[in-house]
Amino acid sequence: MWLVDSSVGRKVIMSISGLFLIVFLLLHLSVNCLMYVSPEAFGLGCEFMGTPFVSAMVPVLALGFVIHIVYAFILNARNLKARGKEKYAGGSKTKIDWAAKNMLALGVIVLGGLAFHMSHFWAEMQLPMFLGQEEYSRVIESGLPLEVNGELVAPYSLAILTFSNVIVSLIYIVWICALWFHLSHGFWSAFQTLGVNNRVWYTRWRNIGLIISTIVCLGFISIPVSFLLGILG
Ligand code: HEM
Repeated sequence: MWLVDSSVGRKVIMSISGLFLIVFLLLHLSVNCLMYVSPEAFGLGCEFMGTPFVSAMVPVLALGFVIHIVYAFILNARNLKARGKEKYAGGSKTKIDWAAKNMLALGVIVLGGLAFHMSHFWAEMQLPMFLGQEEYSRVIESGLPLEVNGELVAPYSLAILTFSNVIVSLIYIVWICALWFHLSHGFWSAFQTLGVNNRVWYTRWRNIGLIISTIVCLGFISIPVSFLLGILG
């Protein structure tokens, strides 16, 4: 099949799965920003993420990740084989960004951060639901409130608990910085792969990509920073 057998097909899969993951990041960020509204609003946002419609998207999202990661390694192995010992040509002839040269390494850091993130939040919020166990056990043990005036504040309490650990917050910030580099190249590169590009749009996609990755990453970083500075908490 063309999508699997040809190098262009594999790049198309990388770009579509990457853009799909960016849409998910935007949805996730919108829910996170509800923390600035109120603990209750964030609780409602998390409830929305647990509704059957969004839950049904979880396998699709997981598949998107798996495809993106598997193809990342396949593409890299093939590129290495094709190039032999020769790496990217340096100097002014080929002006390739640092991020472009290090997409796999950046992706591996993003993957590590994801595993860390899942172990802190997903394993505490969604996983127990699937397993029929007690949710938010860490919050219950900590004695932080689960409900205020009948409204769920457990997700917010979990965020307080997680980001009150400075090391965890710093690891999050490093993770999101790696994501910024990955997206600053990945976004426009995806449009180039899909051919939605010409001389004018090359610069436009690059700028739109820079703006979107900066908004996404500053938004995510602002949460641990706000907890560390006492703006949230
Ligand atoms: C939230 C997570 C992620 C998002 C939003 C994302 C997004 C993207 C986008 C939009 C591209 C550009 C595709 C193209 O050039 O056509 C890309 C490329 C790439 N991604 Fe990701 N990615 C994520 C996670 C990962 C992970 C976990 C890995 C690997 C472990 C990875 C490895 C790569 C590699 C190697 C490329 C370059 C492919 C190539 O052109 O040779 N990404 N990513």
